[in-house]
Amino acid sequence: MSGSRGAVIWMTGLSGAGKSTLANALHRRLKEAGRPSIVLDGDVLRRGLNADLGFTHEDRTENLRRVAHVAALFMQQGFVAIAAVISPEERHRQAARDIVGEGFVEVFVNAPLAVCEARDPKGLYVRARRGEIAHFTGISDPFETPLAPDVLIETDRTSVDHAVAQLLAYLSAPTPSAG
Ligand code: ADX
Repeated sequence: MSGSRGAVIWMTGLSGAGKSTLANALHRRLKEAGRPSIVLDGDVLRRGLNADLGFTHEDRTENLRRVAHVAALFMQQGFVAIAAVISPEERHRQAARDIVGEGFVEVFVNAPLAVCEARDPKGLYVRARRGEIAHFTGISDPFETPLAPDVLIETDRTSVDHAVAQLLAYLSAPTPSAG
């Protein structure tokens, strides 16, 4: 097993797709296995480190730049850093991959927009549809489908346990794919 080797699990996907749920479940499993990990959740980081940023293209770019650098620092210390961030544009994800380098794993946490909207865990889609939230990803701002994610998880068809198992298998593979 590749033991305590660091990695960055970069979860991209719409709000409500299941990134945080999956990130926390993976974190729990890694912890049980004695493997150091940390969750870097966009919602949480935006309350502190990134509280000065909004959702324009520029602000998202800066938000994700910071998350990628923090994730890279943890990875270099042997952690599995699990970033749960929408990262809506291909160039956001590419920039993160460039910052992190080897060890970056792009995970597309996917569910159809209609499913995310029906889940609406934070009531944000309803508000976005009413026009109360500008630049809302999937509604008034684009989400570019990842072209070549390292791992694809369809959360409307896969259980959390199965998805976590998929990620654990990827993490313990002898040579992580170069993407
Ligand atoms: S990112 O685009 O910069 O990667 P990030 O993942 O940090 O986004 O934050 C997304 C979270 O912010 C969403 O899960 C949601 O709770 C909240 N949010 C508030 N406004 C918006 C918006 N306009 N677009 C998307 N998410 C928003």
